[in-house]
Amino acid sequence: MSFPTQRPRRLRRNEALRTLVRETHLSTSRFVYPLFVTPGQKVRQEVSSMPGIFQQSVDQIVEECREVEQLGIPGILLFGLPETKDPTGASSLQKNGVVQRAIEAIRKAKLNLLVTTDVCLCEYTDHGHCGVVENGEVANDATLEILAEQALSHARAGADIVAPSDMMDGRVGAIRELLDENNFENISILAYAAKYCSGFYGPFREAAQSAPQFGDRRSYQMDPANAREALKEVELDLEEGADIVMVKPALAYLDIIRRVRDEFDVPVAAYNVSGEYSMVKAAATNGWIDEQRVVLEILTGIARAGADIILTYHAKDAARWLKTA
Ligand code: PBG
Repeated sequence: MSFPTQRPRRLRRNEALRTLVRETHLSTSRFVYPLFVTPGQKVRQEVSSMPGIFQQSVDQIVEECREVEQLGIPGILLFGLPETKDPTGASSLQKNGVVQRAIEAIRKAKLNLLVTTDVCLCEYTDHGHCGVVENGEVANDATLEILAEQALSHARAGADIVAPSDMMDGRVGAIRELLDENNFENISILAYAAKYCSGFYGPFREAAQSAPQFGDRRSYQMDPANAREALKEVELDLEEGADIVMVKPALAYLDIIRRVRDEFDVPVAAYNVSGEYSMVKAAATNGWIDEQRVVLEILTGIARAGADIILTYHAKDAARWLKTA
């Protein structure tokens, strides 16, 4: 049976019909908003390549968290810009480190927000790699212990979820084990499971001051050409104890989000990364695209691909637009 019996346009005639048959409902309840914590007081420095996104001291972070909570966004993701960097990222473990203090301040403000922390070394090492360097290579096993200690210190400060983004092999297991030994068996792990070596992280590296000082991240982040390997990474992270798995970036990897969604019965997150945000902002600033329309279309696409959770710098704007939509 086809035309003229079948007329798909019948269900597109007005907004009521379109809403009735809509397959994907974008909701603020799936957003997580990333924030960059910096030392000092009353610091609020805009990231030049990411208009609307700031490096902020703890006091300002708490203020922004209030706004995030009021908008109905359920959670945040914290990145730290430490005072000092060294070869092993020691400043990431300090009880009074930037991220640890931010978590405590958010807790103290009694905000109804899930606090997730990015667990990685690249913001804290002087060479900018996500692990310790031995003989010119990023050493896997020597990095695991530091990552686990960092996750533990975030848990002690009050994090709900820790999110390792380093792509070392075995880090989810190492983190789970140390958390459990210290009675943090209820702290969840959101694993950056399929994290690709991507040009779309460019603006983030300005925001987090985490660009590698030599070489690149190809020896640990995934080759953009690979899909089967993503499923293997997800499987391994789940075996090691990941609660939520993430695909990153989102837009060039919608097929990966869909495959992970179809193959595994766990919550799937997608990271709509810095470069994806900056491109939209740049085009919108030039008047080349309608920002609201494009952002909601992008986020709907990520949700339609199968992401339950979307980490996005657009979260606050999107939450406002969804409220009035
Ligand atoms: C740290 C980390 C990165 C991002 C999240 N965690 C950068 C990188 O791997 O170089 C990227 C986030 C973004 O681009 O928005 N390992």
